[in-house]
Amino acid sequence: MIKVVGINKSYSTTAILQNISFNIPDGQIIALFGPNGCGKTTLLKIIAGLDKQDSGEIKQLERSDDSDLRAGLVFQDHRFSLLPWMTIYKNIELTLISKIKSKKEREKRVDQIIDRLNLSRHQNKYPYQVSGGLSQLTAFGRALAFNPDIYLFDEPFSALDYQSALKLQQQFLSLWEKEKKSTIIVTHSIEEVILLADQIIIFSGLPAKILDIIPNNIPRPRNLEQLGGDLAQGIRQKIISIAQSFLI
Ligand SMILES: Nc1ncnc2c1ncn2[C@@H]1O[C@H](COP(=O)(O)OP(=O)(O)O)[C@@H](O)[C@H]1O
Ligand SMILES: [Mg+2]
Repeated sequence: MIKVVGINKSYSTTAILQNISFNIPDGQIIALFGPNGCGKTTLLKIIAGLDKQDSGEIKQLERSDDSDLRAGLVFQDHRFSLLPWMTIYKNIELTLISKIKSKKEREKRVDQIIDRLNLSRHQNKYPYQVSGGLSQLTAFGRALAFNPDIYLFDEPFSALDYQSALKLQQQFLSLWEKEKKSTIIVTHSIEEVILLADQIIIFSGLPAKILDIIPNNIPRPRNLEQLGGDLAQGIRQKIISIAQSFLI
């Protein structure tokens, strides 16, 4: 279990995050849903140890030392996810250079990841030679190769067309079903939260406070048909009514 406890953050005189607390139980997918500019990326950076909060803490229970969480990050824009002068294979290998010193061992790990993601046909291509969906799949592969404590995904599907996003969501879900790793995903898509999340955290605008945390009990493994079911409809209604009440 990872606990986000009372996080406050300001940039100069502007309050960004106000007393943000929630739990990430092992193996759950938590969605962060809220307006642009409310501090979702800032919160992910704080959790990853890339930015510093003013107060509050990120606790990982069951961990004896106080080192930072190891986070596997995937960002929004696939054009910036990968190094353009390296092949798909080398982009995945890059993440492992400091972690696995032996080249042979490292290549074994990269081969495993390429195999799991079905990327072998594309492994020698450069990012500009593959679709946005495949670039983002490679970015997921890098996060996977790193074997982090938690995945932090910042709108990873939002720069893709609808079909590519659906396909990549399915690919991510089937990977996730195998290892059930704790994940936080930032998204603006109600469909995405219904398909992926166990809990949906709704943020207000600046300074961001948590307006509500909605559980998503749709049974897993999930599929696209469930998006039209009664449980999905209930979640959709709740999100819309919170978003709406906030507009008034
Ligand atoms: N390094 C920074 N310095 C100053 N202000 C920042 C910095 N990073 C983000 N901000 C501001 O903090 C607010 C929240 O940004 P961000 O976390 O990117 O929001 P979101 O991801 O929810 O769209 C925005 O108003 C943004 O302009
Ligand atoms: Mg953001």
